[in-house]
Amino acid sequence: MRVTDEVLASQADYYRRRAGEYDVTAYGDVVAARARIARLVAEMDPSGTVLEIACGTGLWTEALAGLAESVTAIDVAPEAVAIARDRVRSNNVRFEVADVFSWATAARFDVIFFSAWLSHVPVSRFEQFWRLLRGLLAAGGRVLFVDEHVEGRDKETYLPGGDEIVERQLRDGSRYRIVKNFVDPERLVRRLRGDAVRCMCPWPRGCRDPSHGQPRKGVRRRHCTARTRRQRRRRALQSSTSGLLNRCSDNEP
Ligand SMILES: C[S@@+](CC[C@H](N)C(=O)[O-])C[C@H]1O[C@@H](n2cnc3c(N)ncnc32)[C@H](O)[C@@H]1O
Repeated sequence: MRVTDEVLASQADYYRRRAGEYDVTAYGDVVAARARIARLVAEMDPSGTVLEIACGTGLWTEALAGLAESVTAIDVAPEAVAIARDRVRSNNVRFEVADVFSWATAARFDVIFFSAWLSHVPVSRFEQFWRLLRGLLAAGGRVLFVDEHVEGRDKETYLPGGDEIVERQLRDGSRYRIVKNFVDPERLVRRLRGDAVRCMCPWPRGCRDPSHGQPRKGVRRRHCTARTRRQRRRRALQSSTSGLLNRCSDNEP
């Protein structure tokens, strides 16, 4: 089963309708989540001009705003953006309701960030998406992101014959089809190899990115060699990232 425009529209609709309940159903304890998000974002060390894709209700925008020179945050769901605008009132943040696949700007960014977004990009649009990112990055820019590990895949109900389309239900019983491609870090790194985009993936398993939460300018992707350091980091990141993000896709919020 292919991801059609109709599925993408259903995905956008789902997040529009979910916006009011998103924080609690995705993060549970929002106060604790904010602290963890602040910690994770600080680890990623975003600086300069930041573009945040699929900002949702602005929980990550808030943390980005504290470290970046400026943040442009876009999301397709006006209801989510309204909540984000209310939450993040910093002068260095600008929100925009926009579909990332058709968004255009002359601006270039030092950092492009997204949380829980890559897994919603259909396989058929993967290349287009990364081309878009390359075009939006300033020289020496970085792409930073967090998402759900492929090991979380079992919790979703995939449609028969649709290995990237799941069905989600909201509290009011309405049902939506959305794209969910849990991220396999090793596969992702293989696919991005040779890409000019430097990618940081603070995932627990199989991550081959040298930055592992500490991106360093001028360092390109290569295999980690310090095994114990990697294991220690892996454990730390597993508890901070996966735990937080796993709740992002509860089927029955
Ligand atoms: C899982 S939520 C993540 C929200 C936020 N980044 C977070 O981690 O809390 C996915 C977000 O993607 C947004 N989205 C869905 N399709 C989009 C599109 N085509 N362009 C931009 N944003 C989109 C939804 O509105 C939703 O806010």
